Amino acid sequence: MARSGAGGAGATAFVILGLETSCDETAAALITRDGKILANVVSSQAELHARYGGVVPEVASRRHLELVTPVIREALGEAEAELDDVELVAVTTGPGLIGALLVGVAAAKAIAWARRLPLVPVDHLHGHVASLYLEPDPLEPPFLCLLASGGHTLLLDVQDRGTRPRMLGTTIDDAAGEAFDKGARLLGLGYPGGAEIDRLARSGDPRAHDFPVARVPGLDFSFSGVKTALLYAVRDLGEQELEERRADLAASYQRAIVRALVERTQQAAEQTGLTTIAVVGGVAANSELRATLSGAALAPLALCTDNAAMIASAARYVQPEAYPGYLGLDAYASTA
Ligand code: KG4
Ligand code: ZN
Repeated sequence: MARSGAGGAGATAFVILGLETSCDETAAALITRDGKILANVVSSQAELHARYGGVVPEVASRRHLELVTPVIREALGEAEAELDDVELVAVTTGPGLIGALLVGVAAAKAIAWARRLPLVPVDHLHGHVASLYLEPDPLEPPFLCLLASGGHTLLLDVQDRGTRPRMLGTTIDDAAGEAFDKGARLLGLGYPGGAEIDRLARSGDPRAHDFPVARVPGLDFSFSGVKTALLYAVRDLGEQELEERRADLAASYQRAIVRALVERTQQAAEQTGLTTIAVVGGVAANSELRATLSGAALAPLALCTDNAAMIASAARYVQPEAYPGYLGLDAYASTA
């Protein structure tokens, strides 16, 4: 078997191919069994969806179909590997957009089946947590994990890498990333909004507006109120006025969301006695959140938003499905 290439992985490296197509990123990665990233290719469809102000599921599926093969080829090239080097195939099976997921699942099945390889179905949220287990600085459980993305806001008690973590809190309405995206739309910024607000907030005054974030019982989150507060703040502004205040509004809005995330996370740490705090998911890329929780284990920037290296990483802790039983494997939109 061709072994020479695998990007300096060494002659005996066990290579895992990961695929991720749950939303609007088409991603393929190659990692070794011990968590070294050989290639991590992410092709974002953000520009394609920007004109609609959000992801259009049918458009996403079609684009995944066009991109999945070139993205896998690029990952193999980056790793200087061949498909023959791959010993395990991992793919996100949910939660996410069902049509988008099915593209990755079909591609993974085809590659695994053609080579009689085992296949690992990976839960997308497990993938985000597993972004912390990669080299060069892998994190060892137990830890408290804040998972904040476009679809989820969760506080998880992670006791080990393989078993499903205990959920301590979740959002009762919008996810944190969704709040960023909707806020960005209200401010007339592009999609996806989180990075745009982050960038603009740097030149604004976070004390300019006092946006309240609802306190809900327990360790849950709520972000729909702060979004409405922003709506009220911008709706009576003329174009010129909005232009002048946009950075202050972005900074204040970001401050409110970050505060809510940090307060709840610290509260959860106190309640559980977990001393290590970790932050993962797209919102973990936020510079204010990273600065505020600078003592926490923060997912590396490149691994915060959706990618396939985290999916391949998670696969190391899941029982693979043997050839050819996985041909009947399905995708799921949400974890019921
Ligand atoms: O994890 P992810 O790529 O996809 C999901 O699983 O949802 O997260 C995407 C979310 C989007 O809502 C995006 O606006 C947000 O992460 N995001 C950010 C930043 N970068 C991405 N939010 C705040 N600040 C950022 N720098
Ligand atoms: Zn995600």
